[in-house]
Amino acid sequence: MKIISFLYPGGPAAKEVPELLGCAENALGLRPFLEGKGHEFLSLTDKENDLDKYLPNADAIITTPFWPAYITKERIEKAPKLRLILTAGVGSDHIDLAAAADHRITVAEITGCNVVSVAEHAVMQILALVRNYMPAYKQVIDGRWDIGEIAAKSHDLEGKVVGIVGTGRIGQRLAIRLKPFDVHVLYYDFRRLSTVEEEVLGIRYNLLDELIPKCDIISIHCPLTPETDGLFNRKRLFAMKKGSYLVNTARGRIVETMALVEALEKRHLAGYAGDVWYPQPAPPDHPWRHMPNHAMTPHVSGTSLEAQKRYADGIRDCLERFLDNRPIERDYLIVDGGKVVSLSYSYAFKN
Ligand code: NAI
Repeated sequence: MKIISFLYPGGPAAKEVPELLGCAENALGLRPFLEGKGHEFLSLTDKENDLDKYLPNADAIITTPFWPAYITKERIEKAPKLRLILTAGVGSDHIDLAAAADHRITVAEITGCNVVSVAEHAVMQILALVRNYMPAYKQVIDGRWDIGEIAAKSHDLEGKVVGIVGTGRIGQRLAIRLKPFDVHVLYYDFRRLSTVEEEVLGIRYNLLDELIPKCDIISIHCPLTPETDGLFNRKRLFAMKKGSYLVNTARGRIVETMALVEALEKRHLAGYAGDVWYPQPAPPDHPWRHMPNHAMTPHVSGTSLEAQKRYADGIRDCLERFLDNRPIERDYLIVDGGKVVSLSYSYAFKN
């Protein structure tokens, strides 16, 4: 079999930190396993050139949301041998799922592998915004000491209303991690949780457009689907409370790019943080790099060293099963048997 992967370039860290499994150099630790079984394995990074060159002859491809190889319908149509697309991570929106289903290609991701990593990142970014951390840190680096400038925009998180949009694995973990901060948590998900779950998590259900104007902070945790593409459009961004904050560790395209810049420039929103962009890597002139009051990171929240170990193990498990003709773990499947089977995606893809 010919298996190809597109992973991020690890640079000097690839050698120095062998645990950096998710980079192209270390290739999820798969090389000895795959080559030992006589398979051809190519670990690539150049999505612009190598994707179109190697995909047409590949049986399986491994991609990652952190360095997404965009597997479009056109590319799928030019890859007659392709049977399996694996996402090293969570979130398979960089793949045309409907086209994969039409071509009976299995798509799987490593469900749950980095949900703690992202929930922790979201807590960090909520605090960074509310406490006004980024400008304070910059003052230190710049040799300044101006308490008034920072304190005038610094708040306690306690007592604030936090909205969680998408209460799946990450959204629920965020709710649990926010409990000690004594906040009021509202949530929206197209699948309402049970009364018991709501009580245990301490969260109250609201429809999206009811939730938006009530929140001091909103954190987005739903997948990118045709339904959530642009969900936070200009209208919804300006329906948010004046001076509120938005955090998005889900996917960049869920928030309308230029409307967000406008909402920050007009000071309607007090800040934005997250680590997801479109496209990725974000070009140097991406407007979100330079908009006011942001606390963005490159797409790293779900790729802590612990998360990389979990998704490397998960990818190996999928490949072992695929090569032995055994079914892939049910929870990992996004597209199978010509259908979008993941509950989180299936609502948007009515098969
Ligand atoms: P999950 O599948 O456990 O939860 C997603 C939740 O979103 C589900 O409860 C689902 O019902 C809900 N949902 C789906 N469509 C919706 C809609 N139109 N409106 C409202 N709710 C909707 O997924 P998990 O593990 O919590 O991850 C969520 C997303 O976070 C992923 O799809 C991915 O895009 C992103 N992610 C980002 C990472 C990063 O490194 N920044 C890493 C892992 C995930």
